[in-house]
Amino acid sequence: MNLSVAEEQMMSKFKGKDFLQISDFTKQELIEIIDFAIKLKNMQKAGQPHRYLEGKTLAMIFEKSSTRTRVSFETGMFQLGGMAQFLSKEDIQLGNGETIADTAKVLSRFVDGIMIRTFGHDIVEELAENATIPVINGLTDDAHPCQVLADLMTIYEKKGTFDGLKFAFVGDGNNMSQSLMIGCAVMGIDCVVAVPKGNEMKEDFIQVAKELANISGAIIKQTNDPQEAVKDADIIYTDVWASMGWEGDLEERKQKFAAYQVNELLVEGAKPDYLFMHCLPAIRGEEVSAAVIDGNNSVVFDQAENRLHVQKAILASLV
Ligand code: CP
Ligand code: NVA
Repeated sequence: MNLSVAEEQMMSKFKGKDFLQISDFTKQELIEIIDFAIKLKNMQKAGQPHRYLEGKTLAMIFEKSSTRTRVSFETGMFQLGGMAQFLSKEDIQLGNGETIADTAKVLSRFVDGIMIRTFGHDIVEELAENATIPVINGLTDDAHPCQVLADLMTIYEKKGTFDGLKFAFVGDGNNMSQSLMIGCAVMGIDCVVAVPKGNEMKEDFIQVAKELANISGAIIKQTNDPQEAVKDADIIYTDVWASMGWEGDLEERKQKFAAYQVNELLVEGAKPDYLFMHCLPAIRGEEVSAAVIDGNNSVVFDQAENRLHVQKAILASLV
């Protein structure tokens, strides 16, 4: 089905692997997956069939809401010739106290892969340890690797390279900033994350990023100064001030994060051809002004679309 030798090798190399964190793949492997995603994108747009997962099933466990993750995984499995099942925690026995380990073992007898969106990162790790099929992290409190993979693909499409770029994240020390910093460290992209005091990223995730940056040569830094982060940046990224699970803190956070809004004034410090990125959903008037997110430098809907293509590449490779 029009697969090159390299793509067939990649699909057999990654078969059965989990995808829990962006650093589960090397720079070279991430580039191979992105190249494959670009091919799948072109095939889908040209109406060429690419049913690499005929007869395969993906279970999708959601403990938090989702638009992009749910629709892109479900559509992706369908386009690959397989099917996906949406399992909200309330509707399955996990919600009644069945353990993660038992859930993993049972689903492994029925389906060919599991995608999970949950709270603690340890839940995804426990699921993967107990499943005999690939487990894909669809977001935890600490990581969102599928989003970062789509973001790297978008950067590559827009900038044509990963080399010589400066990436700035302005906002919360959360799942997105942690995974993006690790993703930049793997790819060799210089990365500065600006967060308010008290909202820093977790030390163990910074440590992972530092170790990877030592290998790739990327310069990575956390600061409390948004102007420093965006200075001469090629990419400015932000995310909501209160992630799912932290909504109760929003009023307090609005005060604390006011100086971290990505608006017309802040982006003046970036390169003129900077990309504005956001994983979405966004709240205009909080973490980003409408003029920036709806402006010419914004690529947020390309990022969202690339979730579909890059996850298809992941699914076809792992499942
Ligand atoms: N960016 C992202 O993961 O969006 P959803 O919460 O809609 O899935
Ligand atoms: N940081 C956000 C990302 C949503 C895709 C959250 O966890 O809610």
